[in-house]
Amino acid sequence: MNQPLKQHLIDPEICIRCYTCEMTCPVGAITHDDNNVVVDAANCNFCMDCIPVCPTGSIDEWRVVTVPYSLEEQFSWAELPVQQDVGSESEQIEALDEVMAALLADAHKGAGGKAKAPASAAKPSVNLYNIGKPAIAKVQGSYRLTSEDSGTEVRHIILDFGAQPFPVLEGQSIGIIPPGVGADGKPHLPRLYSVSSPRDGERPNYNNIALTVKREEHGTCSNYVCNLRKGDEVSVAGPFGATFLMPDDPSARLLMICTGTGSAPFRAFTMRRQRMAASSGDMMIFFGARTPDSLPYFGPLNKVPERLLKKHLVFSRLPGAEKEYVQDRMMAEQEAITELLADPDTHIYICGLRGMEEGVERAFSQIAEGIGEHWETMRDAMRVAGRYHVETY
Ligand code: A2P
Repeated sequence: MNQPLKQHLIDPEICIRCYTCEMTCPVGAITHDDNNVVVDAANCNFCMDCIPVCPTGSIDEWRVVTVPYSLEEQFSWAELPVQQDVGSESEQIEALDEVMAALLADAHKGAGGKAKAPASAAKPSVNLYNIGKPAIAKVQGSYRLTSEDSGTEVRHIILDFGAQPFPVLEGQSIGIIPPGVGADGKPHLPRLYSVSSPRDGERPNYNNIALTVKREEHGTCSNYVCNLRKGDEVSVAGPFGATFLMPDDPSARLLMICTGTGSAPFRAFTMRRQRMAASSGDMMIFFGARTPDSLPYFGPLNKVPERLLKKHLVFSRLPGAEKEYVQDRMMAEQEAITELLADPDTHIYICGLRGMEEGVERAFSQIAEGIGEHWETMRDAMRVAGRYHVETY
């Protein structure tokens, strides 16, 4: 029998196809087709450069094998194969030992880590459509959410999937495939957008979803999406994402922290709770924007009753007021956050600018310290329990 060896794999159910790992790999061992992103066992040298850059932790998968899975096999997977029984237990442990030590150290570094879905979350559908076989959605409407003179254009776009099944759960993303080719002559890759409507549709029981998209000055896809008008057809890949999901448990308490369009999944969470017959778990949001007229959904958000959603809308460029970031308001509200941290029903979600992570982590550290706790230990335990979720860009 061949000596067992460890093989690096990517979980196709969790991977969001951002290709960051492929761009990072120094030896070109990572590649993709229309379906999956995969690792070539013949080239991977276990340098681990790809581990911390993966936003979902899907890269952090390993199997002990006697014959490595081929690229073709990996391209065809909808889910990872289970660990086969190979060699003796001690041989397997030896093969995995060295790599696991390095991995564990890395997996717990930074905000990504090894993400896990909440225990009560519904099972998401993933990767039903891809670049080669996209769903074709029709634009039902596109509405500007921010004022003309706010300097930021954020739009609410509704896509109708007609008779094509496109099931999404709150917190999942879809990939929009802009038409045409890039400067390199290759077709554009899909860009990911969080769905901002709940699972039963933007309009209840319609097969439609909403997106919250900010026009970026030189953004190929954001300009394409923001220029779409009613009746236009759009190629869509996905759905993607199997961890940044909402707990189905109605007693789960949600602490949500976001900036700008990072609010998209939290709109979905809030609408889901509003449409549920009853939920005992409360929700709190810290939402940062420059000004009220550049805060997406400012009007509708203010109408959500405080007993359902405790709102902290935080502004960084309010004339005559001091600059305030979400992490500053968290410090001002540390009593409420302390109470939430102590409750095993609390789930934390962070979504938005990557830059805010550091400040939010610092706020949590100080709040935890205030009650004699070590934040990183607390956070890692919450992550392992599927109660701590980060999606930043
Ligand atoms: P500001 O840009 O005034 O410094 P955007 O409008 O660019 O999407 O940003 C949303 C909000 O996030 C803005 O209020 C922005 O503030 C704020 N922001 C920018 N950097 C950080 C950071 N490091 N931590 C928290 N909030 C931030």
